[in-house]
Amino acid sequence: MTKDPQAKRKPENCAFVIFGVTGDLTHRLVMPSLYNLAAEHLLPEKFCVVGVARKGQSDDELRSSLLKGLRQFATRPVDDDIAQKLLQCLTFVEADPKDSPSFDRLREHLDSLECAQDTGGNRLFYLATPPAAFAPTARELGRTGMMEENGAWRRLVIEKPFGTDLASARALNAELLKIMDEHQIYRIDHYLGKETVQNILVLRFANGMFEPIWNRNHIDHIQITVEEKLGVGHRGGFYDATGALRDMVPNHLFQLMSLVAMEPPARFDAHSVRSEKADVLTSIQQPSREEALKNSVRAQYLAGRIGDEEITDYRKTEDVKPGSTTETFVALKLMIDNWRWAGVPFYLRTGKALGHKRTEVAIKFKQAPLSMFSGTDVDRLSQNFLTIGIAPTETIELQFNAKIPGPSITIDGVEMKFRYGDYFRVDPSTGYETLIYDCMIGDNILFQRADGIEAGWQAVQPFLDAWKSEGTNGIETYEAGSDGPACADELLRRDGRSWRKFS
Ligand code: BG6
Repeated sequence: MTKDPQAKRKPENCAFVIFGVTGDLTHRLVMPSLYNLAAEHLLPEKFCVVGVARKGQSDDELRSSLLKGLRQFATRPVDDDIAQKLLQCLTFVEADPKDSPSFDRLREHLDSLECAQDTGGNRLFYLATPPAAFAPTARELGRTGMMEENGAWRRLVIEKPFGTDLASARALNAELLKIMDEHQIYRIDHYLGKETVQNILVLRFANGMFEPIWNRNHIDHIQITVEEKLGVGHRGGFYDATGALRDMVPNHLFQLMSLVAMEPPARFDAHSVRSEKADVLTSIQQPSREEALKNSVRAQYLAGRIGDEEITDYRKTEDVKPGSTTETFVALKLMIDNWRWAGVPFYLRTGKALGHKRTEVAIKFKQAPLSMFSGTDVDRLSQNFLTIGIAPTETIELQFNAKIPGPSITIDGVEMKFRYGDYFRVDPSTGYETLIYDCMIGDNILFQRADGIEAGWQAVQPFLDAWKSEGTNGIETYEAGSDGPACADELLRRDGRSWRKFS
């Protein structure tokens, strides 16, 4: 994010070790991103990839399965020369954290590979494994000395979910920090790889006009929406143990919230930016049990239709318990206790199997104090929203009032829309390229620090506790393909507000 295209440099030589190389994440995102970096000449001069999994296979078997994945998931046409060059620097090692000697063998493999390929001893370990393997893998990396930085760098990339609540996130942080230093840990949130998400900072801090009005004096409230059309699909087992709140809020939605609400950092560096983001999350009001129940909505989808697809009841999904109390939709009203935001509600909502795909942050400015135009009551003026659209299209949109041409003064709401794609020609990407590249050059501004992760879990913990105490009470339902449960509208209606309509 700190760099313009001209300033992009090749990372230092290194070995890239992928744990979980046979899995979905590697095929869908990690390899296509490495491919895109290779196509942009942004991989190190001397580079090798070591794929690790619990079950053995030959280097060639792995290469052909990854090539198949690349053809399926690449974001641009696959050039065979580039793909083959990338795959030729890949080797496979069978290792399982439950089998310590296998990690000794991995270490030997890396040592000899690095000698042969002259990669200088720098290593990036990417945990593309199920979360249960995070801590055991890190322990083995520690035991074998593979995380020790003796003149070369050693980094660990760790995927979400980072814990399942505040206690487990703290325990995982503590465990990792026994093995390595904070600067070696790259906790990934793929939302921070999205261009428009990064652009929130630029919009706020590279323009003089927004910051003076970016506060409680001018902003009425903020809405953060992540609506998905997809149901739970084949992820029933994972999802039923997780739910919409854990899956999306302390990570993705809080990334958006903290970028929108943070104070200007003293400097644009990882320490200052991450400290300001963590401060916002720490300032989220901790509700009592009653307040948590009043200010939250949880719901499950029922059968319905999305486009041509018939969706079954969430509770009838494969691997979902028939009496499940797991929410597939959540809406929250949060308050931030600081001088900038006191009294300004942040309404967050996210859900699966909804009528459309939409990710956006909408900032609602206060209405004009009175209307001087006869016949147009201030209540009937269009609402002033500044909306940062992230999906399906990357946009910035301003809604304001304008005069309808003609002899009398009549007013209508209009909108001004900036579409990213109209201005900037960029090759489609997975969003992981920036993140992987940043790990290789050691820039951790887009990664989460331990305090930020824990502050996020701390903010949602009162809701998790309150829901747990309620059991099945208070779970609403909504039809798949709809706009979500009616009680989510009620959450705003009782404050005299409404969700921004999908346009
Ligand atoms: C993932 C969640 O982290 O983010 C998924 O586990 C969700 O459940 C996905 O679908 C949403 O990402 P995006 O980029 O499509 O908004």
